[in-house]
Amino acid sequence: MARRVIRLTIVAAALLSAGCDAPWQHEMREQPSLASTHSPREPAAGTLTTRGEPRLDRSTAERLSQTPPPSVSASNGRALYEIYCVPCHGLSGTGDGLVPKHFMLGVDVRPADLTSDAVQQHSDGWLYGTVTNGTARMPSYRYELTPHERWDVVMFVRQFRSGAR
Ligand code: HEC
Repeated sequence: MARRVIRLTIVAAALLSAGCDAPWQHEMREQPSLASTHSPREPAAGTLTTRGEPRLDRSTAERLSQTPPPSVSASNGRALYEIYCVPCHGLSGTGDGLVPKHFMLGVDVRPADLTSDAVQQHSDGWLYGTVTNGTARMPSYRYELTPHERWDVVMFVRQFRSGAR
């Protein structure tokens, strides 16, 4: 009889405590926080962080209102341009690099003329987006260049604007 009472008491206690929401019943991982894959805060509309990598399509990039970071350096941009862009776009920026001369089968894949209005009419954000994502026929520099280095390159490409260089 005494055993039965003890058993029933244990079962009753277990059932009762299962219904209670005591703090010690929770693991830290059960707190109401965001998943580790979730960004702590969405960037403000129309802006681009200099460190984060939001997905950037071309029309969004064109409308970016954020100016490049203040520490941006066109001279570092030039050094990077000479490494990464010259093979196709050439030192002059007009697309007279060595690589296009060897593109295959006469397909017209001339790199864009970076000195042209067609390119220079676009915003800094659009240039940044182009370097970040590449195009159908131009590689992406998302991994080779850090976001800051990409802004440096954009600043340098701006110097191709007519007469500026
Ligand atoms: C392998 C050759 C190649 C390299 C390297 C290259 N580009 Fe290009 N780029 C192209 C081609 C080809 C186009 C023409 C776009 C197209 O037809 O898709 C282009 C287009 C562009 C455009 C204009 C995009 C447009 O849609 O009109 C910009 C701006 C540009 N490149 C900047 C750069 C910069 C800055 C670098 C260096 C970080 C670079 N490119 C490296 C081949 C290259």
